[in-house]
Amino acid sequence: MKTIDKISRMLTLIKILKKEGKSVGFVPTMGYLHEGHLSLTRQAKKHTDLVVMSIFVNPIQFGKNEDYDKYPRDFKRDEELARSAGVDIIFYPSSEEMYPEGYATYVEVKGLTDSLCGDSRPGHFRGVTTVVSKLFWIVKPDIAYFGQKDAQQAYVIRKMAQDLNMDVDVRILPTVREKDGLAMSSRNTYLSEGERKDAVVLYQALKSAEEMVRGGETESKKIIKAIEGIIKPKSRIKIDYVSIVDTKRLKPVSKITGEVLIALAVFIGKARLIDNIIIAP
Ligand code: PAF
Repeated sequence: MKTIDKISRMLTLIKILKKEGKSVGFVPTMGYLHEGHLSLTRQAKKHTDLVVMSIFVNPIQFGKNEDYDKYPRDFKRDEELARSAGVDIIFYPSSEEMYPEGYATYVEVKGLTDSLCGDSRPGHFRGVTTVVSKLFWIVKPDIAYFGQKDAQQAYVIRKMAQDLNMDVDVRILPTVREKDGLAMSSRNTYLSEGERKDAVVLYQALKSAEEMVRGGETESKKIIKAIEGIIKPKSRIKIDYVSIVDTKRLKPVSKITGEVLIALAVFIGKARLIDNIIIAP
C-alpha cells in the first residue's frame, strides 16, 4: 500500500495505472475509519483492479461553530485499517495542498441541497461537492463508493457527476450498523457511555416508522410525530430535524405514495448524528 500526499504525484501515478488498463475504485473519507468505510473498500476491491482511499478532513464543509478542529484524526490507525481492508493507495493531502493560497473555485448543486442537512448546515454541501469534484479529477475513479447513512450527500454527488458529465459510476451502499442498530460514524466517538446508550433510539424510531408505513400509514405528519415521540423522552437528545422526502428531488412529502427517505438529524452531547431509511409503501 502506498501513501501519497501530493496531487502531482497522484496525477502521474493514476495516468500510468490507467495506461496499463487498470480500473480504479475510490472510497473518499475523512479518516478515523470504521466498518462502514471498510465495507465500501471491500466492495471496491471486488469490482475494480485497484482501490484508492482518500483521507482528508475537508475544512470547507464545516460551519464556523462545527467540529472541524475536534474531528477525530489518527492516521497510523487509519493506515493499518486501510491496509487490512485491501486499499492500494491512500491519498492523504494537506489542506494547503487542496486549497492553496488564492483558491477560488467551488462546485454547487442546486435543489437537492435545499432540504435536510442542506437546510440546517448552510454551505456544507458546497464544501462536499467542491472537494469531491477535485478528488474525482485527481483520482479519476471508474467507480466511487458512498454510504447510504449520508444519503443526501450521496444523491448530491451523483447529481453533480451526472450534470458535469464526470465519467464515474457513483454507487451507494447500505448503512453499516452496530449490533444494536446505531449507524456507524466517526462522530460516535464523541458520545459518552450514557449518550451512546440513548443513541440506539434513533434506529428504533426509524424502524417503528417503517412498521407504520408497512402497516398502511401514509400521513407524513403522523409518522414524524411518532418518531419524535420515541426520541424526545431521551433528554440528552435534541432533534435537529425529522423529515420525510421523496428520493428523486428530496422535497418533503405530506402523503407517502412512492419511495421516500425518512431522515433525521439530532444533537447528542458534542455529536450531531444523522440516520435514515428508504422505504416504499
Ligand atoms: O462523507 C465524508 O466522509 C465526506 O463528506 C467526504 C465525502 C469524504 C467529503 O469530504
